[in-house]
Amino acid sequence: AVAKVSFEVNGATRSLELDTRTTLLDALREHLKLNGTKKGCDQGQCGACTVIVDGRRINSCLSLAVMHEGDKITTVEGLGTPDKLHPMQAAFIKHDGYQCGYCTPGQICSAVAVLDEIKAGIPSHVADDITARPRVTDMEVRERMSGNLCRCGAYSNIAEAISEVAG
Ligand code: FES
Repeated sequence: AVAKVSFEVNGATRSLELDTRTTLLDALREHLKLNGTKKGCDQGQCGACTVIVDGRRINSCLSLAVMHEGDKITTVEGLGTPDKLHPMQAAFIKHDGYQCGYCTPGQICSAVAVLDEIKAGIPSHVADDITARPRVTDMEVRERMSGNLCRCGAYSNIAEAISEVAG
């Protein structure tokens, strides 16, 4: 079946008519031509397709586009521009938080949402009371980012970049 859906992507309202089986990932890439968001496994295992929906990170390959009526969606294209990078994008460059770069948009969207989780006091599995400590630990960053795989193994540099922005 075909259905209409309207949502906000990177600040602009977008209306689409889609097969109801279309994932949010395919809606972004195929229909809106926002190819920054990547398709890795297409089954919820790698995190390459991570986008931010109403402030929370999701694997867009696991979510049907028509379920997002009225939602605010941010993709890597909405975080910064080459002239005005998001602080997380700048930190990934500074710390070499990638090798091939394929997982990077998902890593960065996830990392930006992680900072909001930390700010909001949402605990991770390895840190019950994050407000009691002045700095986020490397282990905590790694745990929070464990849904984003990097086959080049740039994890140490990714964690360094995120820790720097997290403060
Ligand atoms: Fe969505 Fe891998 S493409 S988790």
